Amino acid sequence: TTRKPIIAGNWKMNLNHFEANLLVQKLAASLTAEQLEAVETVVLPPFTDLRTVESVIADGKLKIKYGAQDVSPHAGGAYTGEIAGAFLAKLGCSYAVIGHSERREYHNESDELINAKNKAAFAAGLVPIFCVGEGLDIREAGNQVEHVLAQVDAGLEGLKTEQLQQIVIAYEPVWAIGTGKTATPDDAQEVCGAIRARLVEKFGAEVADVVRIQYGGSVKAANIAQIMAQPDVDGALVGGASLDAEEFVSIVRFPE
Ligand code: G3H
Repeated sequence: TTRKPIIAGNWKMNLNHFEANLLVQKLAASLTAEQLEAVETVVLPPFTDLRTVESVIADGKLKIKYGAQDVSPHAGGAYTGEIAGAFLAKLGCSYAVIGHSERREYHNESDELINAKNKAAFAAGLVPIFCVGEGLDIREAGNQVEHVLAQVDAGLEGLKTEQLQQIVIAYEPVWAIGTGKTATPDDAQEVCGAIRARLVEKFGAEVADVVRIQYGGSVKAANIAQIMAQPDVDGALVGGASLDAEEFVSIVRFPE
């Protein structure tokens, strides 16, 4: 396949804008244009860092992309505390993380809300990094595939073909997030393969072949290569390890 690998660093609620500046400068100094061409590299800072990240990346004419960790389902108006997709697009964001398990869990985000956010992101010209994944209880009962496919179905409901072709789906087993417990490459492939099979079934092989599916959950330099070797894993959504410039650079350089 010709899917370009996509490695995204989700900083979560870490790094103020001074710290963000330092980290992006370090990434810029360590990654060559060729490396950034081979592996699409994305940083996902807190909202308050985006302007800083935009300046560093624009000043250096860097091919590092960036995005936000969430987006409002609304286009604008009286929604105190929300951030519209159009504002993010204006700041040069390419992506928005939608439906991360931490938002599903701590902010009670439903499949319906996540579907609305996917649509709002596209409407603003952003590409969703749409997250799915099962908790430990579901994994222990052996129901991970069924659970994740239901999330996929609900999240993609009503999207247009050209949107489906651009979306990035991140499979993150909740029990592997921030725990140091990585899913085995086989576990990752099982669910990512099932997601792709579902896309073939619902939207056809032409769409399914171009959708990039990331694995997320305790990805680090030491395990990235074996995860990326799986046929249906096209990238990684990296949390903790993306806060360390050297570690994140090593992850992006996995093909070497
Ligand atoms: O979005 C990233 C994931 O939640 C993974 O986080 O790499 O710290 O386990 P982690």
